[in-house]
Amino acid sequence: MTPPTDFNDRMLSLGLARVSEAAAHASARLIGHGDEKAADQAAVNAMRDQLNMLDIKGVVVIGEGERDEAPMLYIGEEVGTGQGPAVDIALDPLEGTTLTAKDMPNALTVIAMAPRGTLLHAPDVYMEKLAIGPGYAKDVVSLEMTPTERVLALAKAQGVKPGDITCCILERDRHEDLIREVRETGAAIRLITDGDVAGVIHCAEAEITGIDMYMGSGGAPEGVLAASALKCMGGQMWGKLLFRNDDERGRAAKAGITDLDKIYSRDELVRSDVIFAATGVTNGSIVKGVKREPNFIETETILMRSKTGSVRRVIYRNPIR
Ligand code: FBP
Repeated sequence: MTPPTDFNDRMLSLGLARVSEAAAHASARLIGHGDEKAADQAAVNAMRDQLNMLDIKGVVVIGEGERDEAPMLYIGEEVGTGQGPAVDIALDPLEGTTLTAKDMPNALTVIAMAPRGTLLHAPDVYMEKLAIGPGYAKDVVSLEMTPTERVLALAKAQGVKPGDITCCILERDRHEDLIREVRETGAAIRLITDGDVAGVIHCAEAEITGIDMYMGSGGAPEGVLAASALKCMGGQMWGKLLFRNDDERGRAAKAGITDLDKIYSRDELVRSDVIFAATGVTNGSIVKGVKREPNFIETETILMRSKTGSVRRVIYRNPIR
């Protein structure tokens, strides 16, 4: 029988869950062992092996780095059996290597898949990000606004005081002014040490996480992954690539990006329907971390499809042999 060539997101999503589960299993042994590299490598190997079992003609567009920097899951690597639909893959086998090494919350394995040519080929540079959850008018906040204006606009939209708004921001020296300005509005800040994919996703479940808005700069590849998740869960996001030198501008050129000042909306970061899976490595507010018992290992995966807005939570319990 000839394998299907259309993007069968319904069935492919189930395969995607196995891919992120495999990466979480592999890195679990290294939680709290202080070795970021080993934890990442274990996740990369497992994710690649599992991905290569899927009946897809996949190309990694967001991966572990450029071909000469990353031996596996590099940008442009072809993955899958080569039988089936042509797809773009965005992945981060271990989002939060330091979180894993230090056994801190919210380390995830993350992967998204969409029809070929529809995920932004974001170079490995920083991206200025802004995200809010579902239920707001279009463009109620924007990257062009100052942080103060964003807090005031979101508070007005919610009918609350600025002091009732909570923003999530990566704790970095480069965010010192941003943090000061947001604090001056009276808003609260949830500072995170790493893991801005989870940071953005938190906005989509504000009633559970308590986070209304994500802002600040982080990895551009993580921006595409976060936009994929928000496209499934609902919510708005914007991203602007940030370039610090000619090498970084060269990376953009290589990725086919010509407008270096463009602000990308969520649907420009992810231009079609997408499927998204993330498995918890360490415990977090989105999914539980890997649980090891004497004879079993258990993972929780969030698996989503933007076409239907469906969200599955998959608990996978597997005997340790
Ligand atoms: P790693 O998992 O590769 O360590 O990335 C973690 C992370 O915190 C991302 O979530 C975030 O986008 C990026 O690093 C921020 O980069 P930087 O640490 O340079 O500020």
